[in-house]
Amino acid sequence: MALVTSKALLRRARREGYAVGAFNANNLEMIQAIIEAGDAEKAPVIVQISEGAIRYGGLTYLAEIVQAGAREASVPVVLHLDHGSGFETNVRSLQAGFTSLMFDGSAMSWEENVATTTLIARAAHACGIPVEAELGQVLQSRDRVTAQQVSSSMTDPDLAGRFAEITGCDALAIAVGSVHAMQSQEAELDQERIRACAATVSVPLVLHGSSGVTEESIRQAIANGVSKINVGTYLTAGFCEALRRASEANPREHDMRKLLGPARDEVRKRVREKIRLFGSSGKAGRAAEDGAFADDAGPSFAAVE
Ligand code: G3H
Ligand code: ZN
Repeated sequence: MALVTSKALLRRARREGYAVGAFNANNLEMIQAIIEAGDAEKAPVIVQISEGAIRYGGLTYLAEIVQAGAREASVPVVLHLDHGSGFETNVRSLQAGFTSLMFDGSAMSWEENVATTTLIARAAHACGIPVEAELGQVLQSRDRVTAQQVSSSMTDPDLAGRFAEITGCDALAIAVGSVHAMQSQEAELDQERIRACAATVSVPLVLHGSSGVTEESIRQAIANGVSKINVGTYLTAGFCEALRRASEANPREHDMRKLLGPARDEVRKRVREKIRLFGSSGKAGRAAEDGAFADDAGPSFAAVE
């Protein structure tokens, strides 16, 4: 299939009470693992590329690998920009064929976040591409955040409703207790806040930093209205562990494929596990059949309603 945008995909997930997995990828093997996992689970997948990944792998290289993977796949695949930090990165990603964008203005003032999100949403919508925004701030574990900081960075549900309305964003990342790049699953989410956001925000809600969240909290978050879940650290940790195991088992190995292959297998296994947890297994076929992607012909200059 050709790439699809995230818009119809997330709206459907919200309607039907499951979440679409958005998986971070840095290289060929991770992209293959994510798309193969989607195929095996008959699930739609979002392959997301961060600015760090772009610095490492190159915007065009990564975009074209995802495009090639989507063509081979039998399930809907989205190419999403993760945590785009400004107008320029978003426009460059549009030009490179991304079918979903994110502008992260969460560290900015309300006024600046609203103004930049609105501008990017207008540019993206002119090309038929949806935009995720962020209000409240999902912090980074490397900053050694305290429980107090996590709690005071959480999203205000009333402001979130107004923000989505004013900016025209198509999905909203909310801060509800997770922290980026945690190595163990121990964070519990503020379920009451998720319910309140789902009641005030008319677009699908996004959970970032899911690697550190307990499985039960993820299940409840989906039941309470989260429709897109980002997974990064859990996959890169699996990749590196498997790579290390393979090199330690055969320190003289010169065929890189014998080291990278097991790393790719491990990522595929972990993505499948997350897809099942998110309830999106088996959601690809029906969605494609019933025309859910009618407005998803990829980049075009027709305005999105
Ligand atoms: O935007 C990316 C995600 O929020 C990934 O977070 O690495 O903690 O899973 P994570
Ligand atoms: Zn994130």
